[in-house]
Amino acid sequence: MLTIAVLKDTAPGERRVALVPESVKKLTKMGAKILVQEGTGIEAGFTQKDYEDSGATIVSDYNQLMQEGNIFLKAQLVCLSDDENLKLIDPLPEKSVIIGFMNPFKYFDNVEKLAAKGVTSLAMELVPRISRAQRMDALSAMSSAAGYKAVVMAAASLNKFFPLMMTAAGTISPAKVLIIGAGVAGLQAIATAKRLGARVTVFDTRPVVKEQVESLGAEFVSLETTEEAETVGGYAAEQSEDFYRHEQNIIAAHLTTTDVVIATAQIFGKRAPLLITEEMVASMRSGSVIVDLAAEAGGNCELTVAGKIVERYGISIHGETDLPGSLSYHASEMYSRNVTALLGEMIKDGELVIDPEDDVVGGTLLTHEGKIMNEHVRNLLDRKREES
Ligand code: NAI
Repeated sequence: MLTIAVLKDTAPGERRVALVPESVKKLTKMGAKILVQEGTGIEAGFTQKDYEDSGATIVSDYNQLMQEGNIFLKAQLVCLSDDENLKLIDPLPEKSVIIGFMNPFKYFDNVEKLAAKGVTSLAMELVPRISRAQRMDALSAMSSAAGYKAVVMAAASLNKFFPLMMTAAGTISPAKVLIIGAGVAGLQAIATAKRLGARVTVFDTRPVVKEQVESLGAEFVSLETTEEAETVGGYAAEQSEDFYRHEQNIIAAHLTTTDVVIATAQIFGKRAPLLITEEMVASMRSGSVIVDLAAEAGGNCELTVAGKIVERYGISIHGETDLPGSLSYHASEMYSRNVTALLGEMIKDGELVIDPEDDVVGGTLLTHEGKIMNEHVRNLLDRKREES
């Protein structure tokens, strides 16, 4: 029988859960039995009774979960660290399926272990960004949460109001927010900053986002690159060092009058471009705030420390990497719907059918039948072998 085991997330600070009670009901209707590791979901705001009422069985014995489950779900999975890896990969039954965020381009060593074990792994960050897969696009769901929270956090840190205010003590001018990168997180950040009443200016190397930015009421600054702006997959293409220097100069000219920077610029699978140097931070008005959503990928700001808030030259620089987790209830709800939609594509008549030829399933597969299915991860491993 199709038995889905929902495991408690154990990464430091992780509060999300992979499956919420609403999804338990849906998957049960598709013919699956759901086991939930005891204590799972509490930090996201879901009680054990919520799960039981939805048809799940709470299991306290980890070994029992491992023996009875054939599909394993977590929000952040095995590729986190060696410790995590040992706790999860070793006891996984052969031919079992695991689904979660796996950070496979960073922890690609662990991918070999998964393949060697014959485990089928589906990495949620690999869901193709195509229309058919929108319901499963966990990267977009989490980016959206991060974009919203970045602005709320910046508003809480800033020593100014966001909106224009007419008060008895005179007029207060609105805060100026600069958003670098108008992808999913950037667009949500624009919408949130506009709702709070800020004046918003936006940079992106992809001219196609101009219309979306302007429809949200923000000003778009064109960077006029002569290089290819987009890859075939719709991601931003990496630009030359000369271009990044040119962009730094344009951003620098804006920074002296900017109160908040939300930096989201990323290049898929590569280090994030460095767009704000130390000198540029020093030029900002004291009390201003930078939220660097690219922190985990190396940061858009030279002074960002991933996972931390640092204060330099009177500027608060936020490098938190767990913003979706800080909205654990809704982030879990969204993620759970993404995973359920992906499982819905694969469950046929109560059985799991994995079709590597399917655009969405095939694109999300990291390992399957002993092979590493993702070309980018294979290339990273080959390069590492050549170097050693
Ligand atoms: P991302 O996280 O890879 O990058 C964020 C943003 O930074 C992008 O808009 C990118 O153009 C921009 N950027 C990169 N380098 C920059 C630079 N030097 N200066 C300024 N901005 C820079 O992007 P995300 O949010 O993951 O979206 C990537 C693409 O996927 C977008 O084209 C988006 O529209 C598309 N997409 C398509 C979906 C679908 O059809 N199902 C769903 C979600 C995204």
